[in-house]
Amino acid sequence: MKKADPGRIEKHLKELNAFNSTPECGTTRVVFTDVELKGREYVKGIMRGTGLAVKEDSIGNVFATLPGSDPSLAPVWTGSHIDTVLCGGMFDGMAGVFGGIEALRLIRESGIKHKRDISAVVYTSEEPTRFQVSCLGSRAMAGDLTLEDTKGISDKDGNTLYDVLCRLGYDMGRFGEIKRGPGSVYAAVELHVEQNRRLEDDGRKIGIVKAICAPTNFDVIVTGVQSHAGGTSMEARRDAYMAACELALILEKLARENTESEYTTATVGRVKVSPGSVNAIPGRCEFSVDIRDVDFESKRKLTERFLSECAAVELRRGVSVSHVMHNQDIPLRCSEEISGIIEKYVKTAGLPYEKMISGPYHDSMFVGRFAPVGMIFVPSRNGISHSPEEWTDFAEIAAGTDVLAETLAELANR
Ligand code: GLV
Ligand code: MN
Ligand code: MN
Ligand code: MN
Repeated sequence: MKKADPGRIEKHLKELNAFNSTPECGTTRVVFTDVELKGREYVKGIMRGTGLAVKEDSIGNVFATLPGSDPSLAPVWTGSHIDTVLCGGMFDGMAGVFGGIEALRLIRESGIKHKRDISAVVYTSEEPTRFQVSCLGSRAMAGDLTLEDTKGISDKDGNTLYDVLCRLGYDMGRFGEIKRGPGSVYAAVELHVEQNRRLEDDGRKIGIVKAICAPTNFDVIVTGVQSHAGGTSMEARRDAYMAACELALILEKLARENTESEYTTATVGRVKVSPGSVNAIPGRCEFSVDIRDVDFESKRKLTERFLSECAAVELRRGVSVSHVMHNQDIPLRCSEEISGIIEKYVKTAGLPYEKMISGPYHDSMFVGRFAPVGMIFVPSRNGISHSPEEWTDFAEIAAGTDVLAETLAELANR
C-alpha cells in the first residue's frame, strides 16, 4: 500500500480551516452556517477530485464512495465531522475526514482490489454547538433522531432543525431513508485525535479505542428571589446562583468519588446568571450538565443521585430547581475483531500503541448501534482539544491514515 502524504493532509486541513467564523479565536464552524456550508462544498470538491462519487442524505450526511467489485455486499465506512465547538481547533473531526479521504485515495492508487464499497462519510453536526443535541447525522442513522424530533429541537434564535433543513432544500420526504438497519454497513472505522494526553505521556503514536463514553446532557434551572444585594441579609436571601454553585460542586464530588465505573466525568460548561447585576441577588440561574461514563448503569445512578441532591438543595436554600433532559446516550464497546485488525497493522508499521477508553464521544458511538465499529486515535499535543491550542502533527495523522487504509482494505475484502 502507498503511504499517506502528510503535506496533502496539511493542505486540506488548512484550506478547510479558512472557513471559520472566528479567525481571531481558533476555529468555529457551526452546522449549516455560511462557513460550514462553504466548508461542506470544499470537502465535496476534494472528494470529487479524489475520484469518489459524492452523495448526501436528507440531514446532510455526505458519502464519498470508492466502488467495490460486488455491489450486493454491505459497504465499509470511515469518516468523522467538520463542524466544531465555539473557538475550537482545526483537527477534531477534520483529521478523520481528510484521513478517510486520503485512505480511499491510497487504496485506489495502490490498485488494491476490494469486494465491498468503501465510503468516506462526513456526519452532520457531531458537536451540539447549535442545536444542543450532538451527533445529529449519525444519531438519525441510528434511528435516535426522527423527522418529528427535528421539529422539536431549535437553535438559540428559535429556528428548528426541521426548518433549517427545509430552507436548505433537503428533501424531508426522504428523511426515513437516513436510518440504517443492522447489516446495512459491514464495518466502520473512524480516525480521530485523542483529545487527552495519554498517548503523549506514554510515548505512543496510536490509540486503539476499546469503548466510547456516552454523555447525559441536561440543563438545570434554579429559581430563587431577585432582591437587593445590600438590603437583603445573608439569612433572608434565596440566591439562585449560590444554589447553582453548591450543586456544581456536589456534581464534581459525585463524579470524582464514583467507584462504580472505569471512567466518569462531569462538567458544568455553561452558566447563565440573571439578572447579572453587581448589586442584585440573582433570581435565576441556568446551567448545563454533561455527565460521561463508559458504563450506562453507573451514569444513570450518578444522574439520579445528582437529581436527588437538587431536591435537597431546594429545601435547604428555599429555591426551586427543575431540569430539562436533552439526551441520555448509551456508551459503546468497539468491535474486538476490528480492533484486532487495526492492531495487526499498527504492529506491522512498528508504531508504539495502546488500547484506551475514549472520554469524548464520536459519531462512531451511534454508528455502532447498527454496525461493528473501530476507532484509531492519534496524539493530541498536551492533550488539548476543543480549544484554539488543539494540535496534532500532520505526520502523526498520516501514520494513523496508513493504518486506517490497511484496515479498510482488509475489511472490504471480507
Ligand atoms: C464532542 O466532541 C464531545 O465529546 O463533547
Ligand atoms: Mn469535539
Ligand atoms: Mn470529534
Ligand atoms: Mn467529539
